[in-house]
Amino acid sequence: MSEQNYGNPDSGAVARSGQPEGQFAIENPGLPPHRPRLTDTDPKAAKRAERQVSALFLVSIIGTIVFFLGYFATSNETIGELRVQNLFIGLGTAFAMLGIGTGIVQWARTLMPDHEMIEERHDIRTEEDRVIAEEIIEDVIEESGIKRRPLLRNTLIGALAVAPLPAIFILRDLDNSEDYGVERLRHTMWDTGVRLVRDPVGTPIKASDITIGSAVHVIPEGLNELEHGKLNEKAKAVVLVMRLNPDQLNISPGREDWHYNGIVAYSKICTHVGCPVALYEQHTHHLLCPCHQSTFDLKDECKVVFGPAGHALPQLPITVDSEGYLVAQSDFHEPVGPSYWERG
Ligand code: FES
Repeated sequence: MSEQNYGNPDSGAVARSGQPEGQFAIENPGLPPHRPRLTDTDPKAAKRAERQVSALFLVSIIGTIVFFLGYFATSNETIGELRVQNLFIGLGTAFAMLGIGTGIVQWARTLMPDHEMIEERHDIRTEEDRVIAEEIIEDVIEESGIKRRPLLRNTLIGALAVAPLPAIFILRDLDNSEDYGVERLRHTMWDTGVRLVRDPVGTPIKASDITIGSAVHVIPEGLNELEHGKLNEKAKAVVLVMRLNPDQLNISPGREDWHYNGIVAYSKICTHVGCPVALYEQHTHHLLCPCHQSTFDLKDECKVVFGPAGHALPQLPITVDSEGYLVAQSDFHEPVGPSYWERG
Protein backbone atom coordinates (compact mmCIF):
# COMPACT_ATOMS: atom_id res chain seq x y z
CA MET A 1 0.00 0.00 0.00
CA SER A 2 1.50 3.32 -0.92
CA GLU A 3 1.95 6.10 1.58
CA GLN A 4 -0.11 8.41 -0.60
CA ASN A 5 -3.17 6.46 0.53
CA TYR A 6 -2.65 7.51 4.11
CA GLY A 7 -5.60 9.53 5.34
CA ASN A 8 -7.96 8.00 2.82
CA PRO A 9 -10.67 6.24 4.89
CA ASP A 10 -10.98 3.50 2.23
CA SER A 11 -7.28 2.77 2.01
CA GLY A 12 -7.05 0.30 4.89
CA ALA A 13 -3.96 2.09 6.28
CA VAL A 14 -3.75 2.37 10.05
CA ALA A 15 -2.06 5.43 11.50
CA ARG A 16 -0.17 5.13 14.73
CA SER A 17 -1.66 7.34 17.39
CA GLY A 18 0.28 10.54 17.80
CA GLN A 19 2.50 9.91 14.78
CA PRO A 20 2.75 12.33 11.91
CA GLU A 21 0.91 11.74 8.63
CA GLY A 22 2.45 9.15 6.35
CA GLN A 23 3.60 6.82 9.12
CA PHE A 24 1.99 3.34 9.40
CA ALA A 25 1.16 1.40 12.53
CA ILE A 26 2.62 -1.75 10.99
CA GLU A 27 5.86 -1.51 9.10
CA ASN A 28 5.90 -3.01 5.64
CA PRO A 29 7.92 -6.22 6.17
CA GLY A 30 8.95 -6.25 2.51
CA LEU A 31 9.68 -9.35 0.52
CA PRO A 32 11.73 -12.20 2.01
CA PRO A 33 15.23 -12.52 0.58
CA HIS A 34 15.24 -14.29 -2.74
CA ARG A 35 16.56 -17.83 -2.59
CA PRO A 36 17.75 -19.21 -5.90
CA ARG A 37 16.45 -22.63 -6.93
CA LEU A 38 18.73 -25.51 -7.74
CA THR A 39 17.89 -25.07 -11.41
CA ASP A 40 19.09 -21.43 -11.20
CA THR A 41 22.57 -22.40 -10.05
CA ASP A 42 23.14 -25.89 -11.44
CA PRO A 43 23.01 -26.27 -15.23
CA LYS A 44 22.66 -30.04 -14.86
CA ALA A 45 19.59 -29.61 -12.67
CA ALA A 46 18.17 -27.17 -15.24
CA LYS A 47 18.76 -29.71 -17.99
CA ARG A 48 17.11 -32.40 -15.89
CA ALA A 49 14.09 -30.19 -15.30
CA GLU A 50 13.90 -29.45 -19.01
CA ARG A 51 13.79 -33.17 -19.76
CA GLN A 52 11.09 -33.67 -17.12
CA VAL A 53 8.91 -30.99 -18.67
CA SER A 54 9.44 -32.42 -22.15
CA ALA A 55 8.54 -35.87 -20.83
CA LEU A 56 5.24 -34.46 -19.54
CA PHE A 57 4.52 -32.97 -22.96
CA LEU A 58 5.32 -36.37 -24.47
CA VAL A 59 2.86 -37.95 -22.03
CA SER A 60 0.26 -35.58 -23.48
CA ILE A 61 1.09 -36.68 -27.02
CA ILE A 62 0.89 -40.35 -26.00
CA GLY A 63 -2.48 -39.64 -24.33
CA THR A 64 -3.79 -38.26 -27.62
CA ILE A 65 -2.55 -41.37 -29.42
CA VAL A 66 -4.32 -43.57 -26.85
CA PHE A 67 -7.52 -41.60 -27.50
CA PHE A 68 -7.30 -42.34 -31.22
CA LEU A 69 -6.52 -46.01 -30.57
CA GLY A 70 -9.68 -46.22 -28.49
CA TYR A 71 -11.73 -44.25 -30.99
CA PHE A 72 -10.69 -46.00 -34.19
CA ALA A 73 -9.05 -49.31 -33.30
CA THR A 74 -11.45 -50.76 -30.73
CA SER A 75 -14.82 -52.27 -31.46
CA ASN A 76 -17.94 -51.21 -29.58
CA GLU A 77 -20.34 -53.94 -30.58
CA THR A 78 -20.91 -55.27 -27.08
CA ILE A 79 -21.21 -53.65 -23.67
CA GLY A 80 -17.81 -55.09 -22.71
CA GLU A 81 -16.15 -53.66 -25.82
CA LEU A 82 -17.89 -50.35 -25.29
CA ARG A 83 -16.47 -50.16 -21.77
CA VAL A 84 -12.96 -50.86 -23.06
CA GLN A 85 -13.37 -48.18 -25.73
CA ASN A 86 -14.62 -45.66 -23.18
CA LEU A 87 -11.64 -46.51 -20.95
CA PHE A 88 -9.20 -45.79 -23.80
CA ILE A 89 -10.95 -42.57 -24.77
CA GLY A 90 -11.26 -41.34 -21.18
CA LEU A 91 -7.69 -42.17 -20.15
CA GLY A 92 -6.29 -40.81 -23.41
CA THR A 93 -8.10 -37.50 -23.04
CA ALA A 94 -7.16 -37.22 -19.37
CA PHE A 95 -3.45 -37.80 -19.99
CA ALA A 96 -3.45 -35.48 -23.02
CA MET A 97 -4.78 -32.62 -20.87
CA LEU A 98 -2.82 -33.50 -17.71
CA GLY A 99 0.45 -33.77 -19.62
CA ILE A 100 0.17 -30.26 -21.01
CA GLY A 101 -1.09 -28.76 -17.74
CA THR A 102 1.47 -30.33 -15.43
CA GLY A 103 4.24 -29.72 -17.96
CA ILE A 104 3.53 -26.00 -18.05
CA VAL A 105 3.28 -25.82 -14.25
CA GLN A 106 6.57 -27.68 -13.84
CA TRP A 107 8.20 -25.43 -16.41
CA ALA A 108 7.09 -22.33 -14.52
CA ARG A 109 8.21 -23.76 -11.16
CA THR A 110 11.66 -24.90 -12.18
CA LEU A 111 12.85 -23.02 -15.24
CA MET A 112 11.08 -19.72 -15.68
CA PRO A 113 12.51 -16.73 -13.76
CA ASP A 114 11.08 -16.55 -10.25
CA HIS A 115 12.04 -13.02 -9.17
CA GLU A 116 9.31 -11.19 -7.30
CA MET A 117 8.15 -7.83 -8.50
CA ILE A 118 5.49 -5.29 -7.68
CA GLU A 119 3.41 -3.68 -10.37
CA GLU A 120 1.21 -0.70 -9.68
CA ARG A 121 -2.19 -0.85 -11.31
CA HIS A 122 -2.99 1.92 -13.73
CA ASP A 123 -4.90 2.50 -16.93
CA ILE A 124 -3.23 1.18 -20.05
CA ARG A 125 -4.62 3.55 -22.56
CA THR A 126 -1.65 5.54 -23.72
CA GLU A 127 0.64 4.64 -26.58
CA GLU A 128 3.48 4.52 -24.10
CA ASP A 129 1.63 1.87 -22.06
CA ARG A 130 0.96 -0.18 -25.16
CA VAL A 131 4.65 -0.14 -26.05
CA ILE A 132 5.51 -1.14 -22.48
CA ALA A 133 2.97 -4.00 -22.63
CA GLU A 134 4.58 -5.25 -25.83
CA GLU A 135 7.99 -5.09 -24.21
CA ILE A 136 6.69 -7.06 -21.24
CA ILE A 137 5.29 -9.77 -23.52
CA GLU A 138 8.61 -9.97 -25.34
CA ASP A 139 10.40 -10.17 -22.00
CA VAL A 140 8.14 -13.00 -20.88
CA ILE A 141 8.82 -14.93 -24.08
CA GLU A 142 12.53 -14.33 -23.63
CA GLU A 143 12.53 -15.25 -19.94
CA SER A 144 10.44 -18.38 -20.51
CA GLY A 145 13.44 -19.76 -22.34
CA ILE A 146 11.28 -21.08 -25.15
CA LYS A 147 13.72 -19.72 -27.71
CA ARG A 148 16.78 -21.18 -26.00
CA ARG A 149 15.29 -24.60 -25.22
CA PRO A 150 14.30 -26.29 -28.49
CA LEU A 151 13.43 -29.59 -26.76
CA LEU A 152 10.83 -27.83 -24.63
CA ARG A 153 9.55 -25.77 -27.51
CA ASN A 154 9.17 -28.70 -29.88
CA THR A 155 7.48 -31.03 -27.42
CA LEU A 156 5.12 -28.24 -26.33
CA ILE A 157 4.23 -27.46 -29.95
CA GLY A 158 3.68 -31.17 -30.60
CA ALA A 159 1.45 -31.59 -27.57
CA LEU A 160 -0.57 -28.44 -28.36
CA ALA A 161 -0.93 -29.45 -32.00
CA VAL A 162 -2.41 -32.88 -31.35
CA ALA A 163 -4.35 -32.22 -28.12
CA PRO A 164 -7.36 -30.53 -29.84
CA LEU A 165 -7.76 -33.35 -32.38
CA PRO A 166 -9.87 -35.61 -30.10
CA ALA A 167 -12.37 -32.77 -29.66
CA ILE A 168 -12.66 -32.45 -33.45
CA PHE A 169 -13.43 -36.15 -33.85
CA ILE A 170 -15.90 -36.18 -30.97
CA LEU A 171 -17.72 -33.12 -32.38
CA ARG A 172 -17.76 -34.81 -35.79
CA ASP A 173 -20.19 -37.33 -34.31
CA LEU A 174 -22.73 -34.49 -34.01
CA ASP A 175 -22.68 -34.20 -37.80
CA ASN A 176 -26.22 -34.23 -39.16
CA SER A 177 -25.31 -35.78 -42.50
CA GLU A 178 -26.46 -39.13 -43.81
CA ASP A 179 -23.78 -41.12 -42.05
CA TYR A 180 -24.05 -39.52 -38.65
CA GLY A 181 -27.32 -37.65 -38.33
CA VAL A 182 -31.02 -37.98 -38.73
CA GLU A 183 -30.80 -40.63 -41.46
CA ARG A 184 -29.46 -43.07 -38.91
CA LEU A 185 -32.46 -42.41 -36.70
CA ARG A 186 -34.98 -42.49 -39.53
CA HIS A 187 -34.67 -46.24 -40.07
CA THR A 188 -34.87 -48.97 -37.45
CA MET A 189 -35.16 -52.76 -37.59
CA TRP A 190 -38.94 -52.55 -37.60
CA ASP A 191 -40.48 -53.57 -40.89
CA THR A 192 -43.64 -55.16 -42.24
CA GLY A 193 -44.34 -58.43 -40.42
CA VAL A 194 -41.47 -58.18 -37.88
CA ARG A 195 -42.71 -59.70 -34.65
CA LEU A 196 -42.71 -57.79 -31.39
CA VAL A 197 -40.74 -59.82 -28.82
CA ARG A 198 -40.07 -59.28 -25.15
CA ASP A 199 -36.90 -57.44 -24.15
CA PRO A 200 -34.48 -59.06 -23.39
CA VAL A 201 -35.63 -62.70 -23.62
CA GLY A 202 -36.94 -62.44 -27.18
CA THR A 203 -40.19 -64.37 -26.80
CA PRO A 204 -43.01 -63.34 -29.17
CA ILE A 205 -46.12 -61.72 -27.75
CA LYS A 206 -49.71 -62.64 -28.49
CA ALA A 207 -52.29 -59.90 -28.42
CA SER A 208 -54.09 -61.82 -25.70
CA ASP A 209 -50.95 -61.52 -23.48
CA ILE A 210 -51.35 -57.76 -23.20
CA THR A 211 -53.85 -56.81 -20.55
CA ILE A 212 -55.21 -53.37 -19.82
CA GLY A 213 -52.83 -51.59 -17.45
CA SER A 214 -49.72 -53.57 -18.34
CA ALA A 215 -46.67 -52.15 -20.12
CA VAL A 216 -44.32 -54.48 -21.95
CA HIS A 217 -40.78 -53.63 -23.03
CA VAL A 218 -40.35 -54.82 -26.59
CA ILE A 219 -37.64 -55.26 -29.22
CA PRO A 220 -37.88 -56.46 -32.84
CA GLU A 221 -37.50 -60.20 -33.47
CA GLY A 222 -34.02 -60.98 -34.72
CA LEU A 223 -32.29 -58.23 -32.76
CA ASN A 224 -30.69 -60.66 -30.29
CA GLU A 225 -29.22 -62.64 -33.17
CA LEU A 226 -27.41 -59.65 -34.69
CA GLU A 227 -23.65 -60.05 -34.69
CA HIS A 228 -22.77 -56.43 -35.38
CA GLY A 229 -24.35 -53.16 -34.30
CA LYS A 230 -26.78 -54.80 -31.91
CA LEU A 231 -26.56 -52.04 -29.32
CA ASN A 232 -27.03 -49.29 -31.90
CA GLU A 233 -30.06 -51.04 -33.38
CA LYS A 234 -31.53 -51.72 -29.97
CA ALA A 235 -31.05 -48.08 -28.94
CA LYS A 236 -33.30 -47.05 -31.81
CA ALA A 237 -35.86 -49.84 -31.88
CA VAL A 238 -36.92 -50.30 -28.24
CA VAL A 239 -40.66 -49.91 -27.86
CA LEU A 240 -43.26 -49.89 -25.10
CA VAL A 241 -46.50 -51.77 -25.70
CA MET A 242 -49.63 -51.01 -23.66
CA ARG A 243 -53.32 -51.70 -23.93
CA LEU A 244 -56.19 -49.29 -23.44
CA ASN A 245 -59.88 -49.53 -24.05
CA PRO A 246 -60.10 -48.58 -27.77
CA ASP A 247 -62.80 -46.01 -26.91
CA GLN A 248 -60.25 -44.09 -24.84
CA LEU A 249 -57.88 -43.56 -27.75
CA ASN A 250 -57.92 -40.17 -29.41
CA ILE A 251 -56.81 -41.10 -32.93
CA SER A 252 -55.91 -38.65 -35.67
CA PRO A 253 -56.77 -39.29 -39.34
CA GLY A 254 -54.45 -41.78 -41.00
CA ARG A 255 -53.66 -43.63 -37.79
CA GLU A 256 -56.96 -45.43 -37.36
CA ASP A 257 -55.47 -48.90 -37.90
CA TRP A 258 -52.10 -48.35 -36.15
CA HIS A 259 -53.39 -50.07 -32.98
CA TYR A 260 -54.78 -53.56 -32.50
CA ASN A 261 -57.89 -53.69 -30.30
CA GLY A 262 -56.48 -50.87 -28.15
CA ILE A 263 -52.93 -52.28 -28.06
CA VAL A 264 -50.52 -49.49 -28.97
CA ALA A 265 -46.74 -49.39 -29.41
CA TYR A 266 -44.59 -46.27 -28.92
CA SER A 267 -40.89 -45.60 -29.13
CA LYS A 268 -39.26 -45.79 -25.71
CA ILE A 269 -36.66 -43.13 -26.59
CA CYS A 270 -37.60 -39.78 -25.05
CA THR A 271 -37.81 -36.99 -27.61
CA HIS A 272 -36.07 -34.58 -25.24
CA VAL A 273 -32.51 -35.92 -25.04
CA GLY A 274 -33.05 -39.63 -25.48
CA CYS A 275 -33.48 -41.25 -22.05
CA PRO A 276 -35.62 -44.39 -21.96
CA VAL A 277 -39.21 -43.57 -21.07
CA ALA A 278 -39.82 -46.28 -18.54
CA LEU A 279 -42.66 -45.37 -16.22
CA TYR A 280 -46.30 -46.02 -17.08
CA GLU A 281 -48.99 -44.54 -14.87
CA GLN A 282 -51.97 -46.77 -15.44
CA HIS A 283 -54.57 -44.46 -13.85
CA THR A 284 -53.65 -41.34 -15.83
CA HIS A 285 -52.43 -43.23 -18.92
CA HIS A 286 -49.27 -41.14 -18.77
CA LEU A 287 -45.78 -42.26 -19.74
CA LEU A 288 -43.03 -40.53 -17.76
CA CYS A 289 -39.39 -39.97 -18.59
CA PRO A 290 -37.30 -40.20 -15.41
CA CYS A 291 -34.57 -37.86 -16.61
CA HIS A 292 -36.38 -34.51 -16.75
CA GLN A 293 -39.98 -35.54 -16.08
CA SER A 294 -41.36 -35.17 -19.59
CA THR A 295 -44.83 -36.70 -19.58
CA PHE A 296 -46.59 -38.18 -22.59
CA ASP A 297 -50.32 -38.83 -22.83
CA LEU A 298 -50.96 -42.34 -24.13
CA LYS A 299 -54.62 -41.57 -24.86
CA ASP A 300 -53.60 -38.69 -27.08
CA GLU A 301 -50.97 -40.35 -29.27
CA CYS A 302 -48.27 -39.77 -26.68
CA LYS A 303 -48.31 -36.00 -27.10
CA VAL A 304 -46.26 -34.08 -24.52
CA VAL A 305 -48.37 -32.84 -21.60
CA PHE A 306 -45.50 -31.78 -19.31
CA GLY A 307 -41.76 -31.28 -19.36
CA PRO A 308 -39.08 -30.21 -21.81
CA ALA A 309 -39.69 -32.76 -24.60
CA GLY A 310 -40.80 -30.96 -27.74
CA HIS A 311 -42.30 -33.80 -29.72
CA ALA A 312 -44.71 -36.70 -29.21
CA LEU A 313 -43.24 -40.19 -28.93
CA PRO A 314 -43.21 -41.81 -32.41
CA GLN A 315 -45.86 -44.53 -32.77
CA LEU A 316 -45.12 -47.93 -34.29
CA PRO A 317 -48.06 -49.18 -36.37
CA ILE A 318 -48.88 -52.75 -35.29
CA THR A 319 -51.27 -55.59 -36.07
CA VAL A 320 -51.28 -59.40 -35.57
CA ASP A 321 -50.08 -62.18 -37.86
CA SER A 322 -51.97 -65.36 -38.75
CA GLU A 323 -50.88 -66.97 -35.46
CA GLY A 324 -52.11 -64.08 -33.36
CA TYR A 325 -48.67 -62.67 -32.56
CA LEU A 326 -48.14 -58.91 -32.56
CA VAL A 327 -46.20 -57.71 -35.60
CA ALA A 328 -45.17 -54.32 -36.98
CA GLN A 329 -47.00 -52.96 -40.00
CA SER A 330 -43.93 -50.96 -41.03
CA ASP A 331 -41.03 -48.99 -39.61
CA PHE A 332 -41.74 -45.81 -37.64
CA HIS A 333 -43.06 -43.02 -39.83
CA GLU A 334 -40.62 -40.47 -38.37
CA PRO A 335 -37.15 -40.49 -36.76
CA VAL A 336 -37.04 -41.72 -33.19
CA GLY A 337 -35.13 -39.95 -30.47
CA PRO A 338 -34.43 -36.36 -29.48
CA SER A 339 -36.44 -33.81 -31.40
CA TYR A 340 -33.52 -31.43 -31.92
CA TRP A 341 -32.67 -33.45 -35.00
CA GLU A 342 -33.88 -31.91 -38.21
CA ARG A 343 -37.07 -33.81 -38.96
CA GLY A 344 -38.15 -32.00 -42.09
S1 FES B 1 -34.66 -37.06 -21.66
FE1 FES B 1 -36.71 -37.34 -21.21
S2 FES B 1 -37.29 -35.53 -20.27
FE2 FES B 1 -35.24 -35.21 -20.74
